[in-house]
Amino acid sequence: MSKEDHRLRQRIRYRHVEKIYKDLEELGYHDNDPLKVTDLITLDQWHYFGLEPVDAAMKLLDVRYNFFLSNREGARVLDVGAGIGGPSRYLAHKSKCHVTASELLPDNHRVGQDLTSRCGMTGSVKHVCGDIITTELGDQEFDHVMSIQAIYYVEDKPRLFRQLYDSLKPGGTICFEEFCRLKDVENSDEQAALDFFLLCVNTLPTHGDYRQLLEDAGFQVTVHDISDTYSEYTHGRWATWDQQRDKYVRLYGEDMVDGWLKLIVTAKKLCNEFGLVGGGRFVARKV
Ligand SMILES: C[S@@+](CC[C@H](N)C(=O)[O-])C[C@H]1O[C@@H](n2cnc3c(N)ncnc32)[C@H](O)[C@@H]1O
Repeated sequence: MSKEDHRLRQRIRYRHVEKIYKDLEELGYHDNDPLKVTDLITLDQWHYFGLEPVDAAMKLLDVRYNFFLSNREGARVLDVGAGIGGPSRYLAHKSKCHVTASELLPDNHRVGQDLTSRCGMTGSVKHVCGDIITTELGDQEFDHVMSIQAIYYVEDKPRLFRQLYDSLKPGGTICFEEFCRLKDVENSDEQAALDFFLLCVNTLPTHGDYRQLLEDAGFQVTVHDISDTYSEYTHGRWATWDQQRDKYVRLYGEDMVDGWLKLIVTAKKLCNEFGLVGGGRFVARKV
């Protein structure tokens, strides 16, 4: 592993990429077996609430066949921070659009490519690897941009939103879901929990900060506060954890499971006891 790769892995929490192969084995699949996108949907969505945020993005973006083009080509969508490509594949499968799945970590990218290929979807989902900030996105390439729980990792958000603005066609839309800070940090316990959660970035924008960042980049913005659902989800996940623990240890090992538990407890505290973190869904149009 190169030094740079190692550095990236340390910065990002979502690096348990081999887990998906254990999950598939548990379901009776063997290496290189063809897959259906619908077989994967409970395994490859690396965010809260499974398919719900992707369905919501599809609706908010109004992704669909572009009937105005004579060849009925699908809309072109960029997925920022695609993980192992779960949302990208589902979106392409449901809406017949073409998705570019952009992912920072080489391992996530490699697994994403493998799963897409085994689903027979290489014609509709293209994977690109690299930091979104330095990825060549092109000018007016996309009809839509989607991102789910990934933008908070990007340090230079003003630059990111300017680049996404440039990459969209006139009238194009972006829809993303993100963690948001709900108030100022009030004590050292809150700060420690937030630092652990954020891992590699220093600050978490509020809903208002995100609105401002998008408007500064030129977008017309609508903000949906979904913090209540984040507190419910993080609390429910923590409350039911014990029922799953033994199975998870058998499948993934003690170390991995202990790491998850620490994250699950921290997220529950941040979104419930501390009331410091919530969620937002942002829809913005290039004007
Ligand atoms: C919480 S995961 C979500 C993955 C995917 N959106 C999903 O919902 O299944 C966040 C992903 O964003 C990726 N990521 C973080 N910073 C990035 C960057 N600067 N450029 C591209 N991807 C990035 C991480 O490597 C990780 O795979």
